[in-house]
Amino acid sequence: MKQGDIIYRYRAPDELSPQRLDEICRLVEAGGGVNSRWLRHNLEKAYLIGQAEIDAELIGVSSLKRPRPEYVQRIRDKLGLDIEGFLERGYTSIRPEYRGLGVGTELLGGLTSRAEDYHIYSLIREDDPATQKIALRNQTVKILTFASELTGKELGLWMPATTAAELNLNPISEKEIP
Ligand SMILES: CC(C)(COP(=O)(O)OP(=O)(O)OC[C@H]1O[C@@H](n2cnc3c(N)ncnc32)[C@H](O)[C@@H]1OP(=O)(O)O)[C@@H](O)C(=O)NCCC(=O)NCCS
Repeated sequence: MKQGDIIYRYRAPDELSPQRLDEICRLVEAGGGVNSRWLRHNLEKAYLIGQAEIDAELIGVSSLKRPRPEYVQRIRDKLGLDIEGFLERGYTSIRPEYRGLGVGTELLGGLTSRAEDYHIYSLIREDDPATQKIALRNQTVKILTFASELTGKELGLWMPATTAAELNLNPISEKEIP
């Protein structure tokens, strides 16, 4: 399987059929670690959903979603960071047999280049080197880490290096991931 066999589509949720949204939900859930309660709701309100397909079969997904106001307030209270008006890059899941081919990197780059005037951030588990690697490959930097009560995990908050510079936020230097 080569990158050239893979088709990437970037669509607003209202351009997708309910069946395709169901499929996307199932793939995100299969990736693990998401709160299923808000999944469909968050996807229906997302700014953009990136899909990777081979022969019309969905093999990967990622999205730019709109954080709920309660969450924006939590980040403000807990971390002193204002992400009002940001989009969150998340719900990235690649079918296991297609991982390591660059699909995650391509989806992240495709979404970032289509975010227009929005700022983007993402939350990446500190114990998730694969997602950190695709973030680093897309010139994204880690700004801070915190213990998440919702996931029980240590998370890093990442954003494009250009956004961090614009907002005068200092990146945490990252060891190279092999
Ligand atoms: C994380 C995930 C999205 C990455 O997608 P992907 O298409 O495999 O990513 P890419 O191929 O673009 O790059 C992944 C890189 O990480 C590397 N990698 C994978 N697992 C790794 C690990 N445990 N330690 C270090 N590097 C790792 C891959 O080898 C690849 O690097 P390479 O190109 O130098 O070989 C995919 O593994 C996935 O769907 N995981 C389950 C869901 C999930 O954890 N989502 C992230 C939360 S948002």
